[in-house]
Amino acid sequence: MKRLTATLTIGLVAATLATADPVDDTLVLNGETEIVTRTEAPEAVADVFDEVISGWHFRGDETREMQADDFDNPGMIFVEQAEDVWNTAEGSVGKSCADCHGASEEMAGVRPVYPKWNEEAGEVRTLEMQINDCRETRMGAEKWKYSGGDMINMTALLASVSRGMPVNVAIDGPAQSTWEQGEELYYTRFGQFELSCANCHEDNNGNMIRADHLSQGQINGFPVYRLKNTKLNSAHGRFKGCVRDTRAETFAPGSPEFIALELYVGSRGNGLGVEGPSVRN
Ligand code: HEC
Ligand code: HEC
Repeated sequence: MKRLTATLTIGLVAATLATADPVDDTLVLNGETEIVTRTEAPEAVADVFDEVISGWHFRGDETREMQADDFDNPGMIFVEQAEDVWNTAEGSVGKSCADCHGASEEMAGVRPVYPKWNEEAGEVRTLEMQINDCRETRMGAEKWKYSGGDMINMTALLASVSRGMPVNVAIDGPAQSTWEQGEELYYTRFGQFELSCANCHEDNNGNMIRADHLSQGQINGFPVYRLKNTKLNSAHGRFKGCVRDTRAETFAPGSPEFIALELYVGSRGNGLGVEGPSVRN
């Protein structure tokens, strides 16, 4: 910990590390639904944390409040846009998502279990991969760009109907080897600063890095509306930014590396409530 603090200070020239506890608050969505934002650590991280904590607790009062009310949450505009797309027929088959899946609310419970092993395809699939598979093979429509606007909006819609449900990513059976790849990446030191995800989000969460309050780097809130770039951001987009901040070459959204990392990071938050679209700085 001492050595690490030094690394961070040297690495990120202007870094000042001061401890600030996550804010003690309860997320009640629209005055109705209480969301689990801190809970007993799941199996994957039981040896490093007592408790897993959503990034929501590391944000300021205004940002937290914005997320608690759908009228104030800027991410909900994109959910509405996706709702229109959900109901619009596209592609050579002439079907909409709704034609096969019913109302978007019927998809409640899907987000919490992704990424998930797909037996037929013999691969771990993210939600984005599954959506593109439906577009290509079921609708005869063009795939969406992995982190493009249409895709991210649709993942926001699918997250929104699962809000409050506990993340429950399976890490055993055929998903295990992908999960292990993700774990390895999480502990790999990247870039000129030689920092791993764990150096920041495991060893230093609760500390201030520049003006930012470091969280555990959970992904239960994705996609995230960021006040900084005023748009929805995918988990892979965030991974990319974090790797780039270590001055390393980064992986692309949708790459096998980030798919494995998503499975692993997702499992570190098993038990936290789905929050997407959440609001962060
Ligand atoms: C022609 C019918 C059809 C259309 C249209 C369709 N899907 Fe699907 N979708 C399916 C079937 C069948 C499955 C399950 C098969 C599988 O697991 O591969 C599925 C599975 C899914 C799943 C995974 C569900 C789970 O429980 O794991 C998601 C998410 C999904 N579709 C999203 C969409 C979206 C978004 C659209 C519109 C862009 C869409 N689908 C359009 C037939 C369709
Ligand atoms: C140099 C420190 C540093 C490293 C290394 C780093 N991050 Fe981050 N990360 C941050 C900061 C700062 C933020 C913004 C504040 C926060 O939410 O923690 C952030 C935010 C995040 C978030 C958003 C959390 C939320 O609730 O919105 C995720 C997810 C994340 N990081 C994952 C990762 C992963 C995965 C890696 C490794 C590939 C990684 N980070 C490496 C500093 C780092």
